Amino acid sequence: MTSSSSAIHKLEDYKPTPWLTPSVDLRFDLDLHLTVVRAEYEVVLSANQREPLFLNGESLDFLSIRIDGTILDPNEYQVSPVGILIPNPPKDKFKLSVENRINPAGNTSLEGLYKSGSMLCTQNEPEGFRKIVYSIDRPDNMMRFRVTISGDGTLFPIMLSNGNPISENTFADGKKEVVWEDPYLKPSYLFALVAGELVETKDFFLTMSGREVTLKIFVEKGNEEKVSFAFDSLKKAMKWDEDTFGLEYDLDLFMIVAVEDFNMGAMENKGLNLFNAKLVLADKKSATDESFEAILAVIAHEYFHNWTGNRVTLRNWFNLTLKEGLTVFRDQWFTEDMTDPAVKRIKDVLFLKEFQFPEDQGPMSHPILPKSYKEMNNFYTVTVYEKGAEVIRLVSELIGRENFKKGLKHYLSKYDGQGVTFEEFISSMEEVASHSIPNLRNWYHRSGTPLISVKETYSQDSNEWVFDLADTGSSEYPLVFSNSLAVFNREGSLLKEERRIMTGDRDQIRLPALDETGTKPIVSFFRSLSSPVRLEYKQSEEEIQILAKMETDGVSKFFAFQNLVFDWFRKSLASGKEENFSVILDTISDSFGKGWDKTYHSFYLSFPGLTQISESVGCYEFQKLSDLRLKAIQKITTTFTPQFQTLFEENRKTIPIQTKEEIGKRRLKNTALFYLLHDPSKKFERLAMMEQREAKHMSEEVSALKYLLEVDSKEKENSVNLFFEKWQKDSLVLDVWFAAQVASGENRTQVAEELENHPQFNIRNPNKVRSLYFSLARNPLSFHKEDGSGYDFIADRIKRLNEINPQMAAALTKLFSPVSKQKGELPKLAKKQLESIASLPNLSKELGEIVVTILNSL
Ligand code: TRP
Ligand code: ZN
Repeated sequence: MTSSSSAIHKLEDYKPTPWLTPSVDLRFDLDLHLTVVRAEYEVVLSANQREPLFLNGESLDFLSIRIDGTILDPNEYQVSPVGILIPNPPKDKFKLSVENRINPAGNTSLEGLYKSGSMLCTQNEPEGFRKIVYSIDRPDNMMRFRVTISGDGTLFPIMLSNGNPISENTFADGKKEVVWEDPYLKPSYLFALVAGELVETKDFFLTMSGREVTLKIFVEKGNEEKVSFAFDSLKKAMKWDEDTFGLEYDLDLFMIVAVEDFNMGAMENKGLNLFNAKLVLADKKSATDESFEAILAVIAHEYFHNWTGNRVTLRNWFNLTLKEGLTVFRDQWFTEDMTDPAVKRIKDVLFLKEFQFPEDQGPMSHPILPKSYKEMNNFYTVTVYEKGAEVIRLVSELIGRENFKKGLKHYLSKYDGQGVTFEEFISSMEEVASHSIPNLRNWYHRSGTPLISVKETYSQDSNEWVFDLADTGSSEYPLVFSNSLAVFNREGSLLKEERRIMTGDRDQIRLPALDETGTKPIVSFFRSLSSPVRLEYKQSEEEIQILAKMETDGVSKFFAFQNLVFDWFRKSLASGKEENFSVILDTISDSFGKGWDKTYHSFYLSFPGLTQISESVGCYEFQKLSDLRLKAIQKITTTFTPQFQTLFEENRKTIPIQTKEEIGKRRLKNTALFYLLHDPSKKFERLAMMEQREAKHMSEEVSALKYLLEVDSKEKENSVNLFFEKWQKDSLVLDVWFAAQVASGENRTQVAEELENHPQFNIRNPNKVRSLYFSLARNPLSFHKEDGSGYDFIADRIKRLNEINPQMAAALTKLFSPVSKQKGELPKLAKKQLESIASLPNLSKELGEIVVTILNSL
């Protein structure tokens, strides 16, 4: 462990870097256990006065330091576990050479230079570069990179870095040496290096100006047949960015490498994107429809960063949302255009509500522009990413999408090659809209999901209904909202649509009554979630049902139906008995035979999961919720068995290709199967086994497996074994197999204990850790079990991960956030576990920050 400086970084303390290194010549002498790295920087003073020069460096074995070729005297610098300090640099401009050793094979943190499978690779965002070589490792220091990689040509036949290949030589002794140069300035976090035994696959893209760009995807041997979907996705993304924003790729080569051991999804290193293998590799046999969609979205996301993030980058890490919120918004828009906008929006809003809303109401709550952090790795959050994207979407609502396109182009040309803050982005948007947007910036400073209350009153004098909206939250940061609303009559006919901008904390909407007797119109607010808010509006069951059937906005229609379901839970919990369910059945009945898009219909029919229900109704008695949920599902099943059988049969023969039609059929068929499996007679379980055996697409196999496990079928062991026999050689598919066995139901902690001894489980591989430990910790029935066994198990694994991979340890600990809301002894039991984590002798900076934050809420 490195000695961790636990300093807090505060936004208000931000100062530009006093020294810059505008260019660097890097040299790597590769070896799995002992790699020598040398950097030669051009150093220039950028402050008015000469200040001490500090180079970051962690877990490095220092070798030498020179200025203008002369070795420094030991009293001219100080080496510490966090870097090198040169108190009195001799001049304003000089050449600085540093040299150090690292051990890539011993680096399990997956940050810096590390070994994964048959390759060495890097991960430097946000502060991994300092684990490779001493450097001014901050995004406001931009460099031109020249990189020489040298090593054993048989161990490392492929050697990659950013930009353009300049030369390649193999020497008589088997040594190989390649040189790469990146013509674009970039901060250290965008640097990448990959070396190893990889298979190269190739394609090309013709840009709008007629340049041919070579596209390459590098994979480990055996995976070369699984790249065609990734190539197609990349070409679609490149074309879309040209068509939508006029943005063209700026190098002649674009490379992607699929990496097995990777902490997150993917990384946008200039010209050399690194990907978690599960977000590149896919074929119809081994990938689900969801994983195809994830690949499309993430390939696009990383590609889009080339402009939003790389060409225009960040001044400091507080502004992470400037590139992430914006790029998520861009990839969401892309997927809306490539698939179905309503379905995509439903997925994004569901994700926001299930993960970001709780984060924002819990101990980890922070504004999208965090004001302070100890460890930046902990702030790659759903708030920075997904709420950040919602704020950008809000900007596009406020100024219109055409202005937004102009504004983005304006922003990118005005700040090309610079590191900026959200202010430069917002002011660019205001410039093209030719007006300022009051309160918009406060979205960057206020944490928590705004709660908008709606009070309705009837005014007899004018025969009007008056709707008073109020932002009930903090007035320290008044906001601006886009409220897209629609008015319906009691038959559900659309009377009026309007987009209102609410600046500040209230708005009043007056609508004429529907007739002389003062009948109230039905209003749908914040359609498609036009602002990231929670709504507190008590509408009658009748009104909600009309919206669930008749809303012309598919997204709001979907969420109206969900509200009917959540209201039933609320009422049933309050009365302690199952309340009348007929409105829900009637609404479902109405949805059959309407000819809806199949994917849309399958979403509409999908019954909300336990976590979603508990968050929506604010109840954390999971066993109670689970019992109610089961009864509700069974009611739906028994009422509509023939309809589900028909849906199943009609959509049975699907062709294993990624078209809208076939994806829709698979989804709808699987949804039908889910309900059929809840038939108390259990007579459909054989159907699921047959489905699994005869499946032509992974979505079919996985659904059968998951549902049989979820209903705790007698067939579940057969299903688990069948799946394993077939897929034991495919590590990515086994991730799904591990996850499915612990993701639902009680007492899955014991199952996880057995599975972690499985020869294919590996705690060093983040995908396996996510499949097993994260899935278990997201299964409320097992994790929040009253005896505390879920907490004990996960806390113990967090302690192990602290030694191996602190980022994963910290991320897993975040799943303890909701413990303060649990009943009985649970908060106390969790506290005990968290305290024992906090007292670990080698507590990492990552884990320390999270565990203390959660403990403070207990
Ligand atoms: N910038 C990456 C993205 O596109 C995310 C990222 C940050 C990341 N840190 C990482 C990816 C560490 C992998 C490993 O969102
Ligand atoms: Zn990103």
